[in-house]
Amino acid sequence: MSIAEPGDLTVITGASSGIGAVYADRLAAEGRALLLVARRPDRLEQVATEVSYRHGVSVETMVVDLEQPQDLARLEARLERERVAMLVNNAGGGSLGPTARSTADRLERLIRLNIVALTRLSVAALSGFRERSGGTLVNLGSIVAHAPSAGAAVYTGTKGYVANFTRSLQLEYADSAIRIQLVMPGPIRTEFFSSQGMSDSVFPDSSFLTAEQLVDAALAGLAAGEAVTSPSMPAPEIWDALETARQQYLSSTFSGQVAPRYRSAAPAAPAQRRPSILRILDDLSS
Ligand SMILES: NC(=O)c1ccc[n+]([C@@H]2O[C@H](COP(=O)([O-])OP(=O)(O)OC[C@H]3O[C@@H](n4cnc5c(N)ncnc54)[C@H](OP(=O)(O)O)[C@@H]3O)[C@@H](O)[C@H]2O)c1
Repeated sequence: MSIAEPGDLTVITGASSGIGAVYADRLAAEGRALLLVARRPDRLEQVATEVSYRHGVSVETMVVDLEQPQDLARLEARLERERVAMLVNNAGGGSLGPTARSTADRLERLIRLNIVALTRLSVAALSGFRERSGGTLVNLGSIVAHAPSAGAAVYTGTKGYVANFTRSLQLEYADSAIRIQLVMPGPIRTEFFSSQGMSDSVFPDSSFLTAEQLVDAALAGLAAGEAVTSPSMPAPEIWDALETARQQYLSSTFSGQVAPRYRSAAPAAPAQRRPSILRILDDLSS
């Protein structure tokens, strides 16, 4: 299936810092006209000015708070109205810390940003992609999609959603010329932690990539036609093993029988083993 991108505009959310600002630079270097989206007008303008000066492309900014339904609707309308070639759903927050110390309203705002906005913008972009028989959707997930964690209950939940949503869309659009990529960053040196009043030291120093390394690898994965790109995972066999285990788990649940361990009077409690990454995120709850 050939890849087509019949559109004029590349839209990047969360482009005022970190990963989004690097996407802006790299995609402008490809000669794309950009629409950069975030809340902080000064930081957005700074990125736009630098990128357009460096690469000589048209760069427009749109100040949008994706947690606010009216702002989100303004951006959706633009995605539906314009010939969008590519959407990078990068804006995201963490609200890290124990759920008991947060509020339901704060957690709902995170869900609106990480799930509702990403979903509505994906749907709006895909409708144009279908009309024009092509386009590229990139959704930023996280490795925590595989790491339920104390101190990041809603964050890991939202990234689990992003992963399943995006991979399900890939199945729906498998026979089309529309490209859909899920990017799974590990720890990346950005303002992500500091903007939440935390230090990067929740993860070992040696585990971080720069935003430039992450985006360059993600774009290499996209060019290679990868559906899921995990830039810091050295061996692709690890992903294959995860997929195999997932499929084995799924097919085993189609047995149509209650598992023998639940048929005795007092079933033994299954051992709960926790991967080591959880201990790092557990520190957030102390
Ligand atoms: N850094 C990591 O270790 C890491 C790891 C895995 C995944 N990720 C994911 O990577 C993506 C980018 O994060 P980053 O590391 O580059 O962090 P970042 O530097 O804090 O960037 C987050 C971006 O999202 C924008 N944003 C936040 N809330 C918004 C809102 N309500 N409306 C519109 N824009 C909003 C921010 O801009 P304004 O504040 O100007 O609105 C900023 O441009 C996120 O989805 C994050 O979950 C990061």
